[in-house]
Amino acid sequence: MKQTILVTGGTGFIGSHTVVELQQAGYKVVIVDNLSNSRADVVDGIEKITGVRPAFENVDCCDFKAMDDVFSKYGDIKGIIHFAASKAVGESVQKPLLYYRNNITSLLNILELMPRHGVKGIIFSSSCTVYGQPSAENLPVTENAPIQKALSPYGNTKQINEEIIHDYIHSGAPIKSVILRYFNPIGAHPSALIGELPNGTPMNLIPFVTQTAIGIRKQLKIFGNDYNTPDGTCIRDYIYVVDLAKAHVKAMARVLDNDDTDAVEIFNIGTGRGVSTLEVVEGFERATGVKVNWEYAPRREGDIEKVWADPEKANTVLGWKAETNLDDTLRSAWKWQLKLDEESKQGK
Ligand code: UD1
Repeated sequence: MKQTILVTGGTGFIGSHTVVELQQAGYKVVIVDNLSNSRADVVDGIEKITGVRPAFENVDCCDFKAMDDVFSKYGDIKGIIHFAASKAVGESVQKPLLYYRNNITSLLNILELMPRHGVKGIIFSSSCTVYGQPSAENLPVTENAPIQKALSPYGNTKQINEEIIHDYIHSGAPIKSVILRYFNPIGAHPSALIGELPNGTPMNLIPFVTQTAIGIRKQLKIFGNDYNTPDGTCIRDYIYVVDLAKAHVKAMARVLDNDDTDAVEIFNIGTGRGVSTLEVVEGFERATGVKVNWEYAPRREGDIEKVWADPEKANTVLGWKAETNLDDTLRSAWKWQLKLDEESKQGK
């Protein structure tokens, strides 16, 4: 058995897939989640996939004392993967203080507790949102592209948290960190035992596509077809959530087992492939054989026109590469939607 890892937000979308990959790689996992945007039965799904039930603590990372108690209770935690955060861009504009309080206080608490409990490494979930709209010469975007002023409080919390980690380590704190800048995570575990559980009407593209395909939503709106892109719709780098989860396992091993690396490292986690919204919708129809009712609608405020990753550093330095093609990824999202539909018919 490898080291014990604390995963905050471990019942969430990316968190749950990462817990699976950590356990399959031999790590012992303790999940901390306040279930504000996830369900307790996600732990059952993780257990079914891996055969191991991770420890679970229903705790809010903003509660310093409760977090202190979690570290004391498990004693041997060596690394943290910090997912727990509020993540709806639009909501963050409406409720900025909630976002600043949740996303920043939780990181401050964890960083302060790490040295007290001998925890060496933290992997932080950041986002390509820190790059804003990169200029043409910065596409695909590398880790050295300039950071641009955030367009939302959510995006700003990612930037501020990256700076907090840098400043703390620079001050001599005895910890190491890997910051992962995710592009657009999509899909679900191939078992369809865990996946994305959007709260209310989905804001993100893929859950909206699958909910439209199954008939929960009448029609998908593709926001904007007059962008400066080949088909006029926005371009993103859609990364399979299981591939993304595996990047965390690599990052954890690098932080805990490799003494020669820098105290803070940043990696883009994407495929390197820019795909338009229209290509996603058409790709979904092709891969699943299911039609999606859609139409063009005006641009969505705050959307970036095009961004995709240069994942070279993650490929060569971290030794990680996105492996799954878009069709398989979209099929996994559909399989998960079918599973949710089955559950709702059974009244679960
Ligand atoms: C945004 C954030 C990202 C954050 C993510 C999670 C930015 C630049 N990106 O990603 O940091 O992690 O949300 O919430 O702030 N689309 C439609 N119709 C829909 C939904 C989406 O056409 O109903 C289009 C969008 O206009 C966009 C693409 O699909 O071009 C992807 O949208 P979405 O899934 O919401 O992700 P981002 O906005 O890229």
